[in-house]
Amino acid sequence: MPNLVAMLEILVAFSILCVAAVRSSDPQLFNVLSYGAIGDGAFGKAWDDLCGSTSNYVVLQIPNGKSFFLEPVNFKGPCKPSHLQVQIDGNLTAPTKPGDDNEGIQNWIQFVSLEGLVVNGSGSINGQGFAWPPHCKRPTALVFHNCNNLQILGLQSFNSPRNHISISSCNYVRLSNVYLSAPETSPNTDGIDISESTNIRIQESVISTGDDCVAINSGSSNINIIRITCGPGHGISIGSLGHHESYATVEDVHVSSCTFIGTQNGARIKTWQGGSGYARNITFKDIILESVNRSIIIDQFYCPHKTCPSERMAVKISSVRFAGFYGTSLDRRAISLNCSQTIGCTNINLDNVNITAATPSEKPYASCINAHGMAYNTSPPVPCLIH
Ligand SMILES: *[C@@H]1O[C@H](CO)[C@@H](O)[C@H](O)[C@H]1NC(C)=O
Ligand SMILES: *[C@@H]1O[C@H](CO)[C@@H](O)[C@H](O)[C@H]1NC(C)=O
Ligand SMILES: *[C@@H]1O[C@H](CO)[C@@H](O)[C@H](O)[C@H]1NC(C)=O
Ligand SMILES: *[C@@H]1O[C@H](CO)[C@@H](O)[C@H](O)[C@H]1NC(C)=O
Ligand SMILES: *[C@@H]1O[C@H](CO)[C@@H](O)[C@H](O)[C@H]1NC(C)=O
Ligand SMILES: *[C@@H]1O[C@H](CO)[C@@H](O)[C@H](O)[C@H]1NC(C)=O
Repeated sequence: MPNLVAMLEILVAFSILCVAAVRSSDPQLFNVLSYGAIGDGAFGKAWDDLCGSTSNYVVLQIPNGKSFFLEPVNFKGPCKPSHLQVQIDGNLTAPTKPGDDNEGIQNWIQFVSLEGLVVNGSGSINGQGFAWPPHCKRPTALVFHNCNNLQILGLQSFNSPRNHISISSCNYVRLSNVYLSAPETSPNTDGIDISESTNIRIQESVISTGDDCVAINSGSSNINIIRITCGPGHGISIGSLGHHESYATVEDVHVSSCTFIGTQNGARIKTWQGGSGYARNITFKDIILESVNRSIIIDQFYCPHKTCPSERMAVKISSVRFAGFYGTSLDRRAISLNCSQTIGCTNINLDNVNITAATPSEKPYASCINAHGMAYNTSPPVPCLIH
């Protein structure tokens, strides 16, 4: 008799193991189509079931061959499963004007407080940004807040009314093969905005917008951007930092093998007067420029409103390297390093920079105020650096 009990116990243990094994390899699927009408809270209902599931691997499926009505949706955690995937293969299309349900919304799709999320797919999010009146609040297409070990793979976002992707308070994020597009004239349509986040890798993506291609804001460190094509738009920006006399920090940012086509700026660091903190250990390396208005910019007097009070404090900019820049500039002033008299910029280094004018008869030049460092094999020459 005791033997039988032992055998039963072994059997039970074994079947639990089997179920566990099956669960880790075969995901439990939550197809939004089985949650009723499209655009009727189906995504939210599917998410609630997925998030509370006892499986450890779950997938929310937004299948292809379908167009879905985009509603504001908040995919919120924490969730029970350890592997969460959102597979977006269908197209999500926003209404052409704000409706009663979504007037004043800040985001279309929001992912909050999730661990180990993968957002993948061949689908698209069409924000219909052109249809939003300029005076009304315009939503960001995709927001990731407080997500760790996050992967964003292969998505497309068109015509977001505001930023395409915002990443805040996230740690360990990989984003690859993403395609973001909005007209050159569309206001505030940043491609990817990063703030208060660490260990971010953005790679193999194409971003055409009316504002920054990638913007790296305060609280961010260890950011790697590799093989991105930007343009049109405002280039890859660090900042703006130190607005309203704030303390801002950005460090360990490395941008390499990127191409800028017809952008207003290439590599830019911008800080407001009156702020404090630092931007340091920043590299832009192996950059190709095609008709970029201004290729290399450090601006410690950032002031988009035309009048800003003059202040002594500034966010300190140090240890910045621009290496291997090659291509053409639209503006004759191809390089502009404009640092404050009180704080200045230190250890600013350029090497192997060769920028020629997009109009062959013109000769580009560099301007430089209160920047200290070295320039090696750099054309046009940068006056205040040691050549
Ligand atoms: C989804 O969007 C893509 C890209 O715009 C388009 O090629 C495709 O035809 C769309 N599919 C459907 C079902 O609307
Ligand atoms: C991502 O989605 C594509 C289809 O769009 C699929 O082929 C691929 O296997 C998915 N990758 C992962 C890691 O889920
Ligand atoms: C600069 O950043 C790199 C990469 O994040 C890091 O390995 C290196 O230690 C940093 N250097 C300094 C001086 O902080
Ligand atoms: C180039 O930059 C300068 C200075 O910022 C600006 O005045 C000019 O309008 C820009 N040109 C284009 C084509 O963006
Ligand atoms: C640098 O910034 C100061 C303060 O805004 C401005 O007066 C000056 O014209 C700028 N210099 C250059 C070369 O852009
Ligand atoms: C810079 O690039 C131009 C255009 O390709 C080329 O003619 C020139 O020789 C290069 N200069 C240096 C110093 O490499």
